Amino acid sequence: MDNVITVKNLTKKFGNFTAVDSISFNVKKGEIFGFLGPNGSGKTTTIRMMLGLLQPTDGDINVLGIEVDHQALALRSRIGYMSQKFSLYNDLTVRQNLNFYGAAYGLAPQVLQKRIDETLEMAGLEGKGNIKTQELSGGWRQRLALGVAILHNPEVIFLDEPTAGVDPVSRRAFWELLYELVKQDVTVFVTTHYMDEAEHCQRLGFILNGQLIAYGAPGEIKDNTFSAPVLELAPENPTEAMRAIQLAVESGEIKADDVELYGSFVHVFSSDPKIEKNVKKFLQKNQIAVKHTTMIEPSLEDVFIASVRKNGNSVIQQK
Ligand SMILES: Nc1ncnc2c1ncn2[C@@H]1O[C@H](COP(=O)(O)OP(=O)(O)OP(=O)(O)O)[C@@H](O)[C@H]1O
Ligand SMILES: [Mg+2]
Repeated sequence: MDNVITVKNLTKKFGNFTAVDSISFNVKKGEIFGFLGPNGSGKTTTIRMMLGLLQPTDGDINVLGIEVDHQALALRSRIGYMSQKFSLYNDLTVRQNLNFYGAAYGLAPQVLQKRIDETLEMAGLEGKGNIKTQELSGGWRQRLALGVAILHNPEVIFLDEPTAGVDPVSRRAFWELLYELVKQDVTVFVTTHYMDEAEHCQRLGFILNGQLIAYGAPGEIKDNTFSAPVLELAPENPTEAMRAIQLAVESGEIKADDVELYGSFVHVFSSDPKIEKNVKKFLQKNQIAVKHTTMIEPSLEDVFIASVRKNGNSVIQQK
């Protein structure tokens, strides 16, 4: 598969603060590439450099064979962007918003009307064309913002936390739209901090404090981070059980790398093949009630937390 985006040693400094620290990755044609990271990790800064909106301090970005640093304008008609704080005109109707942005892209009137109809259909907004944008719920507004970003049939779209703050059903519906787009060979670069969304990406990059700490398909990232399955416990009192196990790990009574709370479960990360037996024995001895224990495959959230812990101390930077 061709690389549609190639990023090499990309760096951005604001004064002496490094927001993006020599990251390298590529994005293949027709894939959904997820760019995952906590608040302030450098996601938006990276996207803005990839779009030619912000000058990198160092490094190279090539999008669709074009060096972004020198020829960003040549890319404009071939890429779409839904920014984190996307702007729709609230007092205009859905169709008027699409008309406005379509004209701004320079689409000829007849082409534009056809594209607006297609976009309304694609985004499931048929019948909503004459509704005032301010009357749309958050999920529908996000669909409209995606519609605006794809109106000119771009080959690559950049979406910066497109589903932040909308309910799970609307998020799922939005992702269905992204799947439809990739079926048409559109390449999607999407930032998120929702772990379930990350599982839906073909490949991922994890960014933390401006550094890319994991990169690859979700399965590859999991395999590289943990070679062993994770022990999942369902204690009567998860917090108490987690603390007790953590203390046992610190004292060496239980051999494990990490213990984390996961909703009402506790996850124990260990390469010890007897971990389940040992933990059960420990729980019994200390009269900690557990409904059940199971060995499970690690989730991406497990992997992310483990990567953050592994890298956290060494990459903390002073602003
Ligand atoms: N123009 C700027 N001047 C100084 N610092 C900046 C500037 N833009 C971003 N930063 C800093 O760079 C870091 C990365 O910011 P960025 O917006 O890229 O993070 P993000 O991963 O998109 O976060 P979020 O999930 O909150 O959107 C932050 O510490 C931010 O404060
Ligand atoms: Mg951001």
